[in-house]
Order: sequence, then C-alpha cells, then structure tokens
Amino acid sequence: MISIVYVSNAGSSKRYAEMLSEKTGCPCYAFADSDKAVGSDVIFIGWVMAGAVQGLSEARVKFGTLKAVVAVGMMKSDSQDASIKEKNSISEPYFSLAGAFDMKKLSGMYKMMMGMMVKMIKGKLKESNEPKAKEMVEKFEEGFDMVSEENLGDILAFIGE
Ligand SMILES: Cc1cc2nc3c(=O)[nH]c(=O)nc-3n(C[C@H](O)[C@H](O)[C@H](O)COP(=O)(O)O)c2cc1C
Repeated sequence: MISIVYVSNAGSSKRYAEMLSEKTGCPCYAFADSDKAVGSDVIFIGWVMAGAVQGLSEARVKFGTLKAVVAVGMMKSDSQDASIKEKNSISEPYFSLAGAFDMKKLSGMYKMMMGMMVKMIKGKLKESNEPKAKEMVEKFEEGFDMVSEENLGDILAFIGE
C-alpha cells in the first residue's frame, strides 16, 4: 500500500498531499502524525527551504527507503531540480511542484529570512534596475499561488504504474 506523508509550513505541500490522496485513494498524513504510514510505501512531499527538502532526512529515518520524493518550492526549474537532487542526495524517483508564497502566512525565522532576501534584491535593483529582479520583488511582495491539480500528472502516472 502507498501512503503520502508531507511536511508543510504554509500549507501548499499539504494541499498537494490532500489532492493526491483524494485522486488516488492513498491515505495522507502530516509527518508529525504519520505512525500509521510505517510499513507502507511512502511518497514523501516536503517544502523547499534554501534548497533543502524539509523533513526528508527524518522521513528516511522513519520509513527507510522512500517510494518517491516530491519537492514543493516557489518554482519548478531543471537547474533547481538538479541542485535539489544533489543537495538532498535524492536517488529515489523525484518530482517537483510549484507551490505558493504569501509573506503574511510566514512567521518567525522564515518571515525574517524572506524579508532579508527581498531587501537584498531591492538593494541590488537600485544599482542595476534589472527587469527580472524587479519582477521577482513584485512577485514576493504580492504573493503567488501556483498550486494546481494540473501539476500532478506525472506523479499520478507514477502511482498508477
Ligand atoms: C525561508 C524560505 C526559504 C525558501 N527557499 C526556497 C528555495 O530555496 N527554493 C524554492 O524553490 N522555494 C523556496 N521557498 C519557497 C517555498 O518552498 C514555497 O513557498 C513552498 O510552496 C512552501 O511550501 P508550504 O506552503 O508547504 O510551506 C522558500 C520559502 C521560505 C519561507
């Protein structure tokens, strides 16, 4: 049996886990509440912070070999996927999904980290006024939500195999 286990900070990884669960009938659990998943084939979904898939090492300790790893970040790109795989030593089947970002949903250290990042990009903007950086600052300040069922095609095909 397949179980879906997730670690989510602001909710987008949780939403993907719940969507997958609804579509496949596989149960899904927050990592903190995942004892029932021990012994099943676990698909682990974790949000990405500074390139690290949150909760992945703990999930490997708890469940052993994972059936697949799904990284939820602010975007999906081949270059980021390559570096996430390397940084997190991912040899399991790997998928990535674009998540959501809302400064208002962050608190504590995470809010501070992202606040510093936006400030840094803004500082660089003053020097160069690069359109791409401007777009990025606007995206962070306004927030964005790219969570969509349409993104799940590859993972659903994998589960169906
Ligand atoms: C402190 C911090 C660092 C982040 N670092 C990355 C990153 O390195 N790469 C990335 O794609 N997304 C990064 N993100 C964006 C989150 O991964 C993204 O918003 C994700 O959807 C959050 O998932 P959640 O809603 O389940 O918490 C970062 C977000 C925060 C708050």
